[in-house]
Amino acid sequence: MRNGEDQHPDTTSVGLGYEAAEHLGSLKLPIYETSTFVFESAKEGKRFFEQAYGEDADADAGYIYSRLDSPNLRPAEARLARWEEAEEGLLFGSGMGAITTVLLTFLRPGDQVLYSNPVYGGTSALMRGLLTEFGVECIPFSEDADPAGLADGERLAMVYVETPANPTNALFDIQASGELAHTHGARLVVDNTFLSPVWQRPIAHGADLSLHSATKYLGGHSDLTAGAVCGGRHDIAALRRTRYEIGTTPSPSTGWLLTRSLETLRLRVERQTENATRIAEFLDGHPKVTQVRHLSLLQPGDPGHDIYKRQCLGPGAMISFEIAGEEAEVFHFLDAMSVVRLATSLGGTESLASHPWTMAPPTLPAEQKLSIGVTPGLVRLSVGIENVSDLIRDLERALTAV
Ligand SMILES: Cc1ncc(COP(=O)(O)O)c(C=O)c1O
Repeated sequence: MRNGEDQHPDTTSVGLGYEAAEHLGSLKLPIYETSTFVFESAKEGKRFFEQAYGEDADADAGYIYSRLDSPNLRPAEARLARWEEAEEGLLFGSGMGAITTVLLTFLRPGDQVLYSNPVYGGTSALMRGLLTEFGVECIPFSEDADPAGLADGERLAMVYVETPANPTNALFDIQASGELAHTHGARLVVDNTFLSPVWQRPIAHGADLSLHSATKYLGGHSDLTAGAVCGGRHDIAALRRTRYEIGTTPSPSTGWLLTRSLETLRLRVERQTENATRIAEFLDGHPKVTQVRHLSLLQPGDPGHDIYKRQCLGPGAMISFEIAGEEAEVFHFLDAMSVVRLATSLGGTESLASHPWTMAPPTLPAEQKLSIGVTPGLVRLSVGIENVSDLIRDLERALTAV
């Protein structure tokens, strides 16, 4: 099972990178809760350091210290890389840890980044705040803009695209973004959190790095925070070195939880997607709902339809929709639901609703939020694996409260 080169990710997800014989015959990967590892000899200690800090930060280096690496991370990293059709993968302590490590590794003062807008609030805060203060020019572009006109050929170092975008499901063209980046010798980084590799594999469309808040679908049970990046061997080696230095490494227990979760990734995401497609259909016809954005509803001629057909394998389980009314009406609706809970995360087995207008980091002024489709009436729904009739009944009842 070590290589599984000819196997499907559904198969490698339950075995790749783990040999029971190396762990007292334990069928499942044990949790190695230790801060450090004992060297058999001084010579071995020297060799492990040489491997870990060598030119290409060796992915198979011996274990030294849990801030650097742990046996609980590598199986999930290898399995995720297989899903993402990437050479290698690397885990982090949170999605923001993954994003920060990518930005710090590949950007320098004076560089330019073009980033899609909307983008997760934490990412936007980082671009507009710290990264700008460190002298990187960060320029947002929306789904109807052509970013090529914004690029400074000398300074463009990264195109950063979150697609579908949180919270509106706006789609951005991965292939075109890759061509723009590569024309200028820059990297394309794609945040693939919303669809997961079950429905989107950005590297196959020209991305250099595909990253995740693994807190969401990859973890899938709302019981961990983690991040992940997949890409080419050399880029991942550079990220591994930064992770060693800044300590954005997840704990052994987090690696263990993620390894467990990846086994059921497809089962969860397919069920969530089926539920979301039924719910989107229900909401789309409801008189108290003015607009529904779920990728299953895209029709030929709609913005994003062609991109969807080219780069996505399925519509995912994130829905955003507008309720007729203002904040007060939306709050009545949110408070009236009982199966769907009010919380800010997404991608777990349970359905969660949130109100992006008020429940996100306060990075954007009101008029900018409105211009990217984040309105006081907007609700973001992360659909879980519950019985879909129970979910629809809950939504229907809550809509009568508006
Ligand atoms: C699309 C997206 N990217 C990145 C993040 C940040 O991930 P984390 O909360 O795991 O740091 C989030 C969090 O909601 C997200 O939705």
